[in-house]
Amino acid sequence: MRLPLIVVAVVAAVWLAPLFLSVESGLRFGWPYQIFFTLVVLFGGFVFYMLRAKPTPPFKSTGKAFGSMVLVFLGSIGVIVLLANVAPQFGFEETSAGGATAEERGRALFSNPNVGCFLCHTIAGSGGTRGPDLSHVASVAGKRRPGVSAEDYLKESLQDPAAFVVPTFDKIMPPFAQRLSSEELADLLTYLLSLK
Ligand code: HEC
Repeated sequence: MRLPLIVVAVVAAVWLAPLFLSVESGLRFGWPYQIFFTLVVLFGGFVFYMLRAKPTPPFKSTGKAFGSMVLVFLGSIGVIVLLANVAPQFGFEETSAGGATAEERGRALFSNPNVGCFLCHTIAGSGGTRGPDLSHVASVAGKRRPGVSAEDYLKESLQDPAAFVVPTFDKIMPPFAQRLSSEELADLLTYLLSLK
């Protein structure tokens, strides 16, 4: 009987696939989704098993058949909507969350796909590698250019990245002076300064 093997292989694939999702995709699958996908796979396997076992009995009435199809449909949609609320898969934080500290707002901007810092920069192990790892940028920033404080250096990095290009990296970072408001730049600066 090869079915159990196939089911085990597909379930394993469901649980291993997220490991290969790139950070850049902005997608992340939490365990509720994994469990949901697993149930879907198991149900699929079950259906095939039933198909092999014996012919499905004819429906007693069209109304009942249609009714059960609608129930299954609404049920699945309900489960998906519920899961989406319990565990949102897009980790976009609100950029202007009221009451949040400047550091929190800066952190949210950093991981906001519309701003895009994380596509090129890694912080604490997640993010892109086209730019330098910024996990401890506050400690590095003061030593980049003699006589330039960490704060001034970071401010300049955001507004005019080409002014100083970190060795071994390309001059590809876009300037953010026009793209972000002065409040947003200040929030990002506060966040970067917290990365010691
Ligand atoms: C297209 C890729 C890209 C994006 C997007 C990007 N950066 Fe950069 N960044 C780089 C590269 C490459 C460097 C190094 C070269 C240089 O200094 O210009 C760099 C340098 C920096 C530095 C200086 C780091 C150091 O070690 O001296 C800081 C700080 C920085 N980026 C912050 C940010 C922030 C904050 C954002 C989002 C607002 C951002 N970057 C978006 C590519 C990027």
